Amino acid sequence: MSLRSDDHQWGSVARFFHWIVALGILGNGIWGLLMTDMAPSISKINIYALHKSIGLTILALFALRLAWRLYDRAPPDEPMPRWQRIVAHATHVLLYGFILAMPLSGWLFNSLHGYPLQWFKLFNLPPLAAKNDELSHLAGTVHEWLFYLLLLVLIGHVGAALKHHFFDQDNVLRRMLPFARARQNKLPSGDLS
Ligand code: HEM
Ligand code: HEM
Repeated sequence: MSLRSDDHQWGSVARFFHWIVALGILGNGIWGLLMTDMAPSISKINIYALHKSIGLTILALFALRLAWRLYDRAPPDEPMPRWQRIVAHATHVLLYGFILAMPLSGWLFNSLHGYPLQWFKLFNLPPLAAKNDELSHLAGTVHEWLFYLLLLVLIGHVGAALKHHFFDQDNVLRRMLPFARARQNKLPSGDLS
């Protein structure tokens, strides 16, 4: 599999970005939901710090992925009805939006709340806004609900991928899976060329 995508499948760099971000965003979201229920302690502070550092890493991966996506060529769509193509592309744009909005809303919430921000204890990051208790509550709610919305959109995204794989038996999922190769299209019967 080459680094760049070709006419049949996503390249290894695009696949790497897809799966590392998918794992990271889901893991960090579940981590976020669990950590807020913890009793106050030193380990709670460390667990929050890790949540924020992973979230900031996802933000950096978003920027790198977008740059790679603009440089790389996406494989042409598999044959499917026009409406499905439109819905799929709209879903992908939405998902890119969530990958950006999740960390940014967290960072904004953190700033409005007046919490400090470090990346893996290596360097500090500036606040995005001044401390504001009223707005911080709203930003926290937005941060939480964005994740629930992301999960909702994801049900459609994963459902569509599985439908293509098991019902349509096309290459949509295979060409994005980490170690799978896209099936070459069968020749139409009678075509021996
Ligand atoms: C088990 C979970 C997932 C499965 C099975 C899956 C499957 C896929 C597949 C098969 C594609 C390629 C579609 C195509 O070639 O037209 C794709 C693209 C995409 N996926 Fe996922 N995905 C999953 C999770 C996620 C998550 C968690 C996110 C982000 C929050 C995400 C964001 C995207 C985006 C943005 C694209 C479009 C890529 C592009 O056009 O640059 N996916 N996904
Ligand atoms: C992929 C990125 C991220 C995801 C999916 C995510 C998801 C979540 C979720 C689901 C919660 C639980 C919300 C609740 O129950 O109130 C949460 C809490 C939190 N997140 Fe994130 N987050 C991300 C990135 C960030 C970043 C980058 C920061 C800060 C720079 C951050 C700061 C926080 C804080 C401070 C809380 C605790 C909220 C509270 O105590 O009420 N998050 N996050």
